[in-house]
Amino acid sequence: MEEIKTIGVLTSGGDAPGMNAAIRAVVRSAIFNGFAVKGIRHGYNGLLTDDIFDMNLRSVSEIIHRGGTMLFTARSDEFMTDKGQKKAVETCNRYGIDALIVIGGDGSFRGCRALAKLGIKCIGIPCTIDNDIACSDYTIGFDTALNTAMEMIDKLRDTTQSHERCSVVEVMGRHAGYIAVNTGIATGALCILIPEIPVDIDRDVIERIKETHKEGKKNFLIVVAEGVGKALDIAEEVQQKTGIDTRATVLGHVQRGGSPSLRDRVVAAQMGVHAVELLQLKNYNRVVALRGEKITDYSIEEALAMKKELDPMLIGVAKVVSI
Ligand code: F6P
Repeated sequence: MEEIKTIGVLTSGGDAPGMNAAIRAVVRSAIFNGFAVKGIRHGYNGLLTDDIFDMNLRSVSEIIHRGGTMLFTARSDEFMTDKGQKKAVETCNRYGIDALIVIGGDGSFRGCRALAKLGIKCIGIPCTIDNDIACSDYTIGFDTALNTAMEMIDKLRDTTQSHERCSVVEVMGRHAGYIAVNTGIATGALCILIPEIPVDIDRDVIERIKETHKEGKKNFLIVVAEGVGKALDIAEEVQQKTGIDTRATVLGHVQRGGSPSLRDRVVAAQMGVHAVELLQLKNYNRVVALRGEKITDYSIEEALAMKKELDPMLIGVAKVVSI
């Protein structure tokens, strides 16, 4: 098999805190091991628009502590087409990019699978605040997002308590409830609504509020995962059915920003180094993963076919202390 000389690196999909730390680890470890590195800007779009530049050790200085991604990111419609993917391969060939390291989520890894079929060697690094990559217990960005959401919900709790109101707060997570269940437990929410468990608003929220109101509770915090529904709709229903003054708060994209936590920086470094090691070992078309405390990897096909379930223990805890 041909020797790899040049590695391309890109970030794709929604950004997450720790993406920069992962880029840094990839670049530093690639150069340390004698590879040349090219940065590709704006995700896969950069391969369609030739937005590519040479990277060196200094290209990644002063980014380890910064949120966002120095390579910018995108979800590319053009790249999803056969034509776009062929063009991306031609670009890799023209720039002498022998292998790609893609930092992102499931959608980004489907891009890797398409390129791998066309002969580009790919490695995926799981990085999304949603923590919804099945092959990995943990995705870079999750810890920071949890702490950001927790801090904001704590602030919301203050004003909810002063006004003796109900607050319905919507957190991100796409189709998964990892952010909701963890922040709900951490902030002592009365109800935590997640897509993994069928929700009956009357039974799980309205009745719960009425019951605890009767027992003397004066303020109420409901954490809802965006995959369940809109905070605004739930807040209106709560107000209408309980008569309690209710407000909706959507935390939104602020959850994706900010300086990455220690955990996100360290996991990013471990995964970035492992991704380069895989290329050195000629172990191509893999997704890096964290299993327990161990960094490992799976074939892209296997990784995309896997299913992930929310830890039943965590759901049990949430039921006891909140739901
Ligand atoms: O995947 C990360 C994420 O922030 C999800 O939690 C959310 O559903 C989505 O991206 C939002 O995407 P966009 O940035 O396109 O609004």
